Amino acid sequence: LNNIKKIKSYSSNIFISEKTSVIKTFLQNNKYSKIIILVDNNTKRYCLPLIIDEFDEPNNFEIIEIESGEENKNIKTCIQLWSILSQKNADRKSLLINLGGGVIGDIGGFVASTFKRGIHFINIPTTLLAMVDASIGGKTGVDLDNIKNIIGVFKEPQAVFINLNFLKTLPQRQILSGFAEIIKHGLIANKTYWNTITKSSLSDNSQLNILIKESINIKNNIVKKDPFEKDLRKILNFGHTIGHAIETFALNNSNTDYLLHGEAIAIGLICETFLSTKYLEFDTKDLNSIANFIKSKYNYYHINQSNYPKLIEIMIKDKKNHDDKINFTLIKSIGMPEINIYCSISDIYMALDYYKNIYTNNIEY
Ligand SMILES: NC(=O)c1ccc[n+]([C@@H]2O[C@H](COP(=O)([O-])OP(=O)(O)OC[C@H]3O[C@@H](n4cnc5c(N)ncnc54)[C@H](O)[C@@H]3O)[C@@H](O)[C@H]2O)c1
Ligand SMILES: [Zn+2]
Repeated sequence: LNNIKKIKSYSSNIFISEKTSVIKTFLQNNKYSKIIILVDNNTKRYCLPLIIDEFDEPNNFEIIEIESGEENKNIKTCIQLWSILSQKNADRKSLLINLGGGVIGDIGGFVASTFKRGIHFINIPTTLLAMVDASIGGKTGVDLDNIKNIIGVFKEPQAVFINLNFLKTLPQRQILSGFAEIIKHGLIANKTYWNTITKSSLSDNSQLNILIKESINIKNNIVKKDPFEKDLRKILNFGHTIGHAIETFALNNSNTDYLLHGEAIAIGLICETFLSTKYLEFDTKDLNSIANFIKSKYNYYHINQSNYPKLIEIMIKDKKNHDDKINFTLIKSIGMPEINIYCSISDIYMALDYYKNIYTNNIEY
């Protein structure tokens, strides 16, 4: 078992290895009646060939393919998947393998957890975002009525298999999307890691490898202490109150450019670091350097001021909030997060303006 790193999650294991035989070993140790691999059109083409040899006979497994994209992460797709599982006579001893990014992991995890009151599933993340974030921690679910992740359950996969070889075919824009979650991990976890992140090159595999392992550890350690997001886990929401709202807004406005999850989170990280200066006396020099670092990696996304109220409306509907208040995780300093901070609408507007100014006028705070 050389070269296989095994990390304990709260109820199973995360394996980090470039050897796909770890999957075979897992399957041999767990006798499943049927194996179903869920893919999208891209992961079928680019990722399935890398692991297909680990499945003994072709009769032993079946493949279900869905269209890629967030717009398919909904209950309609779930119904199709439940029907297919039922037609294929999947039983309680069947295993669903989620081979793909966060969309496949979220929907597959939810479908598996609800089919016949729950069948086992494993995650084989194929995007950077899914490796360092979505595949870990047991959050599964789908979008409904244009609200992201509003239907779902907490259910950990039986195992997660991280293999960096999948990233070879992943478009650069998707790599950057995942990198936003790595930036978030640095900002909430520790200054040393943050410094490593700012100096790392994403095109250098060994440096990327270090970031992936460290980010998995950070996320996993937080989830283990608070699997159902009662308190501590909320620190992972840094950047996500505003980020999610912008992501939802972009998803529902066909006349604006589409945004990837991490691209929206990158904007959220700038805005919420700005709010941290207002509410927790976060250092303004650090704010400007974080914002400029993010600016050096991500393109500008224009949000008209006339759309700010729409964003607030989306934030109020967010499942993290109650009593019409908007709940934030902010940071006192790099590595010192604080949860349950309520920010005023006028300060949120200022944060959105700060984002706009730093990109378009180089105006720092
Ligand atoms: N459950 C969680 O804790 C959690 C955390 C963060 C994000 N998410 C969710 O994850 C989703 C975003 O995940 P994502 O960024 O992985 O998006 P994704 O699953 O849509 O994948 C991005 C694109 O890359 C393609 N792709 C995947 N792997 C590839 C590969 N190896 N080579 C080439 N193409 C490949 C996919 O087909 C897709 O077109 C969102 O729905 C978000 O809400 C969930
Ligand atoms: Zn995220």
